Order: sequence, then C-alpha cells, then structure tokens
Amino acid sequence: MKCIDEVPASELKGKRVLLRLDINLPIGDDGEASDVFRIEQAWKTIRYLAERGARVIIVSHFGREGDSIEPVARAMKKFGAAVFIPDLVGPIARGAAKSMKDGEIALLENVRRDVRETENDEGFAKELAALADIYVDDAFAAAHRAHASIVGVPKFLPSYAGLLMRNEVREIDAARAPGHPSLAILGGAKFETKAPLIKLLLEKYDHVFITGALANDVFKARGLPVGRSLISKEQPGEDILSNPHFLAPVDVTTEASDGQARVKKPQDVQPDDKIVDIGPSTVAMLAPHIAGAKFILWAGPTGMYENGYIHYTQAIAELISKNEGKKVIGGGDTIAAIEATGVSQKDLGFLSTGGGAMLEYLLKGTLPGVEALG
Ligand code: 3PG
Repeated sequence: MKCIDEVPASELKGKRVLLRLDINLPIGDDGEASDVFRIEQAWKTIRYLAERGARVIIVSHFGREGDSIEPVARAMKKFGAAVFIPDLVGPIARGAAKSMKDGEIALLENVRRDVRETENDEGFAKELAALADIYVDDAFAAAHRAHASIVGVPKFLPSYAGLLMRNEVREIDAARAPGHPSLAILGGAKFETKAPLIKLLLEKYDHVFITGALANDVFKARGLPVGRSLISKEQPGEDILSNPHFLAPVDVTTEASDGQARVKKPQDVQPDDKIVDIGPSTVAMLAPHIAGAKFILWAGPTGMYENGYIHYTQAIAELISKNEGKKVIGGGDTIAAIEATGVSQKDLGFLSTGGGAMLEYLLKGTLPGVEALG
C-alpha cells in the first residue's frame, strides 16, 4: 500500500483525484450532520491534495441508501470550499470533473444511490474511475466493504492510500502487537460476533476487560441474575471466563423500570433491573491496570451513554488520558461517547474513525479496501 504523500507534488498538480472518503456522519433531529470527527480527520488529505494543485473529487456513502449527502456538503463548508455535485457518474458529474480547476474540491452525491456500488459492479467502478486520473482511498471506516468505489476503482486507476488510511492501518497494526504491559477494553453488544476478537485479544494482551452489554453475557454465563438487561444470542464459554487475562466488571449500575439508577454487585441484580453501566469499584479495579499499561486499546463505551449513562465512560477516559503510553481508541460508538464526556481528545492517543472496520482490522490484520490498494 503506497501512500499519496510518496507521490511527488509535481505528479499531483492538475490531476483529477477521485478521493473515496467515509463521511457517513450521523444526522441530528434538525436534518444536519451532527458529528464532524470524520470530516476533520479526512480534511488533512483533502487539504494535502488541494494544496498541491490536484482537483479533488470526493465520493462517499451516506446514511441509508437513498439519502442525499447534501447535509455533509453543508457541514464541510466549515472546513473549506467544497462544491456539492448532485450527481455521481452522469453528465453533471462528468461535466463538473472536466471543468474543475487546480486546487478545487467537489463532493459527489451519495455513492450508494447507485445500487451498483454495493454490488461491486465493474461497469460502475469503471464509470467512477473515468472521472479521474488517480484514485486515493481515505475511507478506512468503510474499508471492510467490498464495494465498487472501494475495491473496484483501484483496478482502473493508479491507486494510493490517503493520509488517514495510512495512519489508521499503522496504528491498528500496532494494536495487534501491543507493548507490555497491555490492556484491552472491549465493549459493545452481540457476543457471538465479538467472540473471535475477544479470543485474539486474550492471546495478545496482558488484560482484556469486557464491558458494555458484552459484560451482561459474562454475568449470564456465570449464572448471575441479569434482569431485563440486553443479552446476546450466545454467551462466553469457560475458555474465555477462566482465562487468567480476562477481566469483567465487579459492580454495575442498574436502572429499575421506574427509572431509578443504583450501583450494586452483579449478584444483587433484580428481575426488574436493567444493567446500564459499570460501577465505581470496577473503575477502581481498572485504575492500576490503566496507569501501568504501556499500550491501551479501547473499543466501546462502558455503558448506555446515549441514555445518559456516561459517568464511568468518562472516568475511564480521564484515567486513560493520564496514561503516557501508547493508546488506540475507536470502534462502534466510542468516539461519539468520548465526545459526550468532554474529555480532551488530544490526550487520548490515536482515535480511529473506524467502527466495524476497526474491529475487523484488529481481528484480521487486513480489509478488502486495504488489500485493493496492493
Ligand atoms: C460506518 O459508519 O461504520 C461506516 O460508514 C460503514 O457504514 P456501513 O455499515 O453502512 O457500511
């Protein structure tokens, strides 16, 4: 995989660059893009290309298949001048690509508006490729999707990783070979989909702490009461539960059906309780592991932060921000949760834009979009 910064600037000037981004941002109640973290991270590559005189044609998927990406175009205006082109490979897009000047930036319509994108249709990939001279993929967060704009286009154009893609791969590679002592914190739900990753982390990390809804599965597997808590289809077996590297919460925050939150020991959870977060004793148990770790991987908030249970995610973020070792954070809603805590991102190490892509890369050490770049 060659990064775009390995190409001499003279070879970028005047070139039309098809830049695949993942600017699949959440949309607020007002219909506007609400979390610009992915634009912020992608803007480094956009600026890099535009400053070298490339004509930057951005393409991304967005929301549900049919949604227009226009709200993202509006959000981009805070970063620089990007023109929205309400077309993908039709005459408007072709005309716009042809008439762009050096350093200009355009954003094409949601690439999934064309069903051939997710079908990885070769004809569609060719049509996209025909818009440009060079392809740059900075869409790490979508690199687990073998779609036309990700794995098809590189067959037809000289192709490079963007700066973000290069950094994501480098940092997550490091998380696959952590320095010791190391700590992995893994939250989320659906144990059955996370089991292979948990097993891999148990081999590589000194301690693996399971939190979020995954911890409910641990309690269930241990025969503890879980009340109304979210439970996966499958639960961990003894290979995980009795692994000496494995850690689970020692107390939990519960919410009763009247909305009352309480901290209790897992064995005291009542039939009416829903486990919504960890508790203070769990934070105290983790604190020395966090303080002493040379490498921390964190994927997944500790609790249902979207329902206001952010306190212990915040406590963990604060502890991690004091650790001076290497830190890689991402996956699922982790960055959104951290933003909600207000803990400064600059002390948290590398923040991945990847949700599912980060977890899949951690497990496999590659992704279709990375492979496609050679
Ligand atoms: C994400 O938000 O995780 C990526 O943009 C991938 O989106 P998808 O799950 O719709 O492919």
